[in-house]
Amino acid sequence: SLSGIDVRAEIDRLRKERNAVILAHYYQKPEIQDLADFVGDSLELSRKAAETDADVIAFCGVRFMAETAKILSPDKVVVLPDMNAGCSLEDSCPPDQFAAFRAQHPDHIALTYINCSVEVKALSDIIVTSSSAEKILSQIPQSQKIIFGPDKHLGGYINRKMGRDMLLWPGVCIVHEAFSETELLKLKAQYPDAPVAAHPECPPHVLDHADYVGSTSGILAYAKDFDGDTMIVATEPHIIHQMEKAVPEKTFIGAPGADGNCNCNICPYMALNTLEKLYIALRDLEPRIEIAEDIRLKAKKSLDRMLAMAS
Ligand code: 13P
Ligand code: SF4
Repeated sequence: SLSGIDVRAEIDRLRKERNAVILAHYYQKPEIQDLADFVGDSLELSRKAAETDADVIAFCGVRFMAETAKILSPDKVVVLPDMNAGCSLEDSCPPDQFAAFRAQHPDHIALTYINCSVEVKALSDIIVTSSSAEKILSQIPQSQKIIFGPDKHLGGYINRKMGRDMLLWPGVCIVHEAFSETELLKLKAQYPDAPVAAHPECPPHVLDHADYVGSTSGILAYAKDFDGDTMIVATEPHIIHQMEKAVPEKTFIGAPGADGNCNCNICPYMALNTLEKLYIALRDLEPRIEIAEDIRLKAKKSLDRMLAMAS
């Protein structure tokens, strides 16, 4: 048991002793965001992981993010507080099925969302995040045939916005899929002046009502910039913590699920990480991400293309 242990003080002691950097995604619990060395979106966290001179990366996010850190920084020890922190998009795209999909479309390149396994990254040509997808796609000729996986909503959004016809893998994020259009319209009626900011993982019937669509860092920037005092947030509600810190005078309301509140839109995978598990991960340097070198090198190729094309 951890009773009697000052977990925050121990995390501080251990991070110095181990020369560790604590990276956290915006969907982590506020207490984790507040003690992280850096909080960001998937692209920013990848860049931090690639650049850090720490010996240990304690990654407070989901497994594909920690794996990305290990792919880019293989000499570091990368720990994830809870190894069960997966992602429904990753689960929707088993590598053997993805390989078969590629084989059916030999004249297509694979542009792939970072929310996938190392194996799927290794089978892909270029990785994208929600903040870099449009910039990367704009560098690919219109005539190039493309398959896009695993998020059909992000892929569909980019297809519509950029006039493309990428073939889409049918994966979804269970969190963004759970927003209710009916409940969102009720909330909009209650706050007619409040803009809606949505993540492109949302289905089209939610994106249709959005004033702004973008990645978590994009939504956060919009929260600071929009003219008004109240905003509706259609992404995982833990990001509201950063908004309230940045612009405490504004009000942020999480978009509702079918039950009328935003609690059903908490990412169950992200929520597995706790301060206690972070402390244990720094203490034991476990659970640790390990990736076979041959597959790491293949995955790194597609991630390096992302980092080059997104910069
Ligand atoms: P971004 O932070 O890159 O927008 O990704 C959101 C997400 O769902 C990560 O799992
Ligand atoms: Fe995956 Fe959705 Fe959770 Fe992001 S919010 S980690 S896409 S399940």
